Amino acid sequence: MTARVPIGIVMNGVTGRMGYRQHLVRSLLAIREQGGLPLRGGGRLWPELVLVGRNEAKLRDVAARHGLTEWSTDLDAALARPDVSIYFDAQVTSEREKAIGLAIAAGKHIYTEKPTATTLSGAVDLARAADAAGVRHGVVQDKLFLPGLRKLDRLVRGGFFGRILSVRGEFGYWVFEGDWQQAQRPSWNYRSADGGGIAVDMFPHWHYVLEQIFAPVRAVTAHITTHIPRRWDEDGQPYDATADDAAYAIFELDGGIVAQVNSSWAVRVNRDELVEFQVDGTEGSAVAGLRRCRVQHRASTPKPVWNPDLPVTDDFRSQWQEVPDNEVYDNGFKEQWEMFLRHVAEDAPYTWDLWAGARGVQLAELGLQSAREGRRVEVGELTA
Ligand SMILES: NC(=O)c1ccc[n+]([C@@H]2O[C@H](COP(=O)([O-])OP(=O)(O)OC[C@H]3O[C@@H](n4cnc5c(N)ncnc54)[C@H](O)[C@@H]3O)[C@@H](O)[C@H]2O)c1
Repeated sequence: MTARVPIGIVMNGVTGRMGYRQHLVRSLLAIREQGGLPLRGGGRLWPELVLVGRNEAKLRDVAARHGLTEWSTDLDAALARPDVSIYFDAQVTSEREKAIGLAIAAGKHIYTEKPTATTLSGAVDLARAADAAGVRHGVVQDKLFLPGLRKLDRLVRGGFFGRILSVRGEFGYWVFEGDWQQAQRPSWNYRSADGGGIAVDMFPHWHYVLEQIFAPVRAVTAHITTHIPRRWDEDGQPYDATADDAAYAIFELDGGIVAQVNSSWAVRVNRDELVEFQVDGTEGSAVAGLRRCRVQHRASTPKPVWNPDLPVTDDFRSQWQEVPDNEVYDNGFKEQWEMFLRHVAEDAPYTWDLWAGARGVQLAELGLQSAREGRRVEVGELTA
């Protein structure tokens, strides 16, 4: 058996939805289950996990459930451990900046959920501090690893679209208010003082999807609002929803590409997936979701004629062709963890760093500014 090469990781926020399911169970424990991550020079990288959180009972429970022995409610003490080299953060957004700052000061490499901070200045400070400390840093950009978006990316790289004209994104679903049916998302998402809001949550995703698959984002015009002003929390108590729950945005990209993305927790789903992007180009179009991607080539584009006097005879949805997988897709969070671990352990390249994270926060901040001021806002370059 090849030797295990241990790598110590502090995981903060593992009792939360993302920290537990995607990062602990589906990523790092899954890597252990497959025997560790094979390294180029031999040996298998073996994540040694130190769970950190506020609630001792919950941590003990998570640790016991997965046969883990190391956990602590003392972040400073965990960061002081010499056998830990990476700090990972999946806490509520409002707690992130402070904790990552401590981890950088302790000389740990940083891997974190998005958004990296609640303000652009905070996000840039973290990126600068991490560079100055010489630590490696990475930010979760999971949507890029969704099979549907991987296929879309393949189409773009393969030149399927010709000149890309526009991108239309629809994201959202109905998040219950919490009175007569429990809400399916944590209540902090709907309080701005706790780092909530759909723009802060989703614009960082849209930023890397647009920048990585299509082109850099140069301007934003947004209408952002709170449709549901009163909600009920985890204890059934009513509260004022101070954060935005819907954002209607137009992003202008290099090359004249217009990306229009609606994000809403107050919309009922009438599409095939919870997020879908339609891309129209001179040579063809595509509709990509989380898993599927369908195309219509220029040569097979029908010619509908507008006539409200006649019933529709075309079955428009059937006129699209499925893009095959052509590869096996692993869990996206796990794939990205593996890339980051290789970045730390064997110097493999890794592009989605705290600067990329800061650009996502910047887009959220400028989108909110656009909505507040009722105008188009240009997106400037961030400088180190
Ligand atoms: N990449 C993605 O697709 C994705 C999806 C959802 C959420 N997220 C991000 O992950 C982070 C966590 O989101 P979640 O949905 O898992 O939230 P959650 O409420 O389920 O979990 C929050 C975690 O933070 C901890 N925490 C620390 N301080 C806290 C405080 N003061 N108040 C409340 N909780 C506190 C909780 O104990 C818990 O472990 C957020 O930053 C969010 O933006 C990313």
